[in-house]
Amino acid sequence: MGEVMVVTSGKGGVGKTTTVANLGFGLARLNKRVVLIDTDSGLRNLDVVLGMEEQVAYHLTDVLSYTCRLRQALIQDRRQPELYLIPAAPYRKDVLEYVERLRELTEELRKQFDYVILDCPAGIGKGFEAATQVADRAILVTVPEVSAIRDADRVISLLGERYKENLQLLINRVHIDLVRRGFMLSPEDVQEVLDIPLLGVVPEDEAVHVALTKGEPLLCTHTHSGVCYGKICKRLLGETIPISISYANAGWFYRIAQILAR
Ligand SMILES: Nc1ncnc2c1ncn2[C@@H]1O[C@H](COP(=O)(O)OP(=O)(O)OP(=O)(O)O)[C@@H](O)[C@H]1O
Ligand SMILES: [Mg+2]
Repeated sequence: MGEVMVVTSGKGGVGKTTTVANLGFGLARLNKRVVLIDTDSGLRNLDVVLGMEEQVAYHLTDVLSYTCRLRQALIQDRRQPELYLIPAAPYRKDVLEYVERLRELTEELRKQFDYVILDCPAGIGKGFEAATQVADRAILVTVPEVSAIRDADRVISLLGERYKENLQLLINRVHIDLVRRGFMLSPEDVQEVLDIPLLGVVPEDEAVHVALTKGEPLLCTHTHSGVCYGKICKRLLGETIPISISYANAGWFYRIAQILAR
């Protein structure tokens, strides 16, 4: 039986969709059968990040409302045949309306796939509630900024009880130079504040924009961020790979601890 994972954040625009696309691609490259589900109806973009937008015929809401069969909505990746996508609806539709159907669907998919990965909408609204109700494991993406960390802290308080040790942190867009100069929190600081296990760190990397423009996963490129996502995939499979990015404490820890305590 496969595992159902949800990638969430609280704050929007921190890299959930980029992460889902690259974890999916990376795990498929490691010979796992993977299906990605975009639950962000109305603001779908996982199909675009994967360069699959022209293959979209049906979407998640069609499957949940029995408008189409599951196999009609599954899009196979042309580069990695073990990778599939169920895109989000182009119009706004609360997935929460179909939460029991979503659970049925993920249960059905876990029989056929090693990993079912849900791309969660931003915020802590109904889409978040639905996507986080059906997964076994949650990956919380944040960036090293005070507002994103405060939102991540809120998400931890909402999910901590349900996921316990199955809630892990991914810190994205770490700007090495800013950390060194003391203008950005270090990954160690962020992890210490949020106090959940660290799955990985991804640097700020212009290659992400180039990959997005081409609809090409970072793992197809020899880039710093691509290498980091490759290591994160191996950690998900249980390999012990040290997180190599390490910086001196930037002295932000006490400020952020005070903000979260308010
Ligand atoms: N490591 C990175 N370096 C540089 N840019 C990045 C990085 N990660 C993500 N981005 C950029 O940040 C933007 C937001 O990324 P993405 O769409 O993955 O975030 P999201 O959390 O899914 O957003 P939303 O909450 O709107 O769904 C995109 O333009 C993406 O290219
Ligand atoms: Mg997104």
